[in-house]
Amino acid sequence: MLSYLRPDLLDLAAYTPHPAGATDQAITLDHLDTNESPYPLPEVLRAKLADTYEHHLETNRYPDGGHRALKKAIAEYVNGSCGPISNGTSEKITPQQISVGNGSDELIRSLLIATCLGTGGSILAAMPTFSMYGILAKTLGIPVVTIGRNENKNFGIDLDAARGAIANTDGPPVRVVWMVHPNSPTANALTPTELSWLRGISSDVLVVIDEAYFEFSQQTVVGELAARPNWVVLRTFSKAFRLAAHRMGYAVGHPDLIQALEKVRLPYNLPSFSQAAALTALAHRNELLAVIPEMVRDRDRLGQNLRSLGKFQVWNSAANFIYLRLRPEFAGDNPDAKLEEITTAMKVKGTLIRHTGGGLRITVGTPEENERTLLRLKEVLG
Ligand SMILES: Cc1ncc(COP(=O)(O)O)c(C=O)c1O
Repeated sequence: MLSYLRPDLLDLAAYTPHPAGATDQAITLDHLDTNESPYPLPEVLRAKLADTYEHHLETNRYPDGGHRALKKAIAEYVNGSCGPISNGTSEKITPQQISVGNGSDELIRSLLIATCLGTGGSILAAMPTFSMYGILAKTLGIPVVTIGRNENKNFGIDLDAARGAIANTDGPPVRVVWMVHPNSPTANALTPTELSWLRGISSDVLVVIDEAYFEFSQQTVVGELAARPNWVVLRTFSKAFRLAAHRMGYAVGHPDLIQALEKVRLPYNLPSFSQAAALTALAHRNELLAVIPEMVRDRDRLGQNLRSLGKFQVWNSAANFIYLRLRPEFAGDNPDAKLEEITTAMKVKGTLIRHTGGGLRITVGTPEENERTLLRLKEVLG
């Protein structure tokens, strides 16, 4: 270890990204481990973007660091897609309530910097959940408090433990609660009871509701933001909008919180071409999102087929992926070792899936990919 480095980094593992594009395998891989859309941008939109690059983009100039056009377009999209509002008002979201990040990953880090860094605050997460909250917190030296979920039922959050963690005065105080709606990897949306607990959390604590999979779940709390200055919603263009390669995410929240996020981010965090891609995707959202009902049907069919293999417990999904675990009679003494074996064997056959949180997370792919997933799993299970 180099003596000038922070010693705590020694114990941190770098996030291992999946192999994009070319790999060392001779076969083409089905990428069903990172919940991207299996569908590329349509040809006509790719051509539009190529034209933008050729005729309108000045590569020698910095991008628009204020993301003005993008914030306006995002606000319009968010306002048009508030969905069923469970409580509170439905005031319109303005561009001043939006910050755009280099993927929502950047916004997660900005939120941590704006709330916990140097304040002695900690974050609370209900496990299993999206790993980046913990990973990024640790890189900033921010303590992570974890609580569990009801693993035998529906992965509901252990609310007693959550209340206890927030009330605890022994350790660093919880300053941010991280929720995914619907959760990754378990694919369950927040329940009315969980939402009501979140509404009761003190306004000294920031509640982050990560709606990365909103377009699939059609469930959102955006309509409540006007009434709750301590809530912030995260969304991304990496999933339903098919723009994972462009790294675009956004936060919607109170203008003062948004201003803080704008202060801590890098000045030119979004390349001009990525901004152009997001604007194009938003302008053509009806075409891009038209495939979602079909994907939801494919997801439910895949879930049913995985269940009928007889070896897995398969949970209902509100997202574009399915979470499953080996049934106890097939799991043996070391279920994680077995799941790792399955994951590796699936990769050898050409399908990347994710072993995480004591189960498997499988992204819904094209119908052909889903068929291959089933076939290969059958072969792997023997
Ligand atoms: C819950 C959740 N939040 C955020 C992200 C990251 O999204 P982005 O690609 O915008 O950084 C993911 C990606 O898998 C996710 O599952």
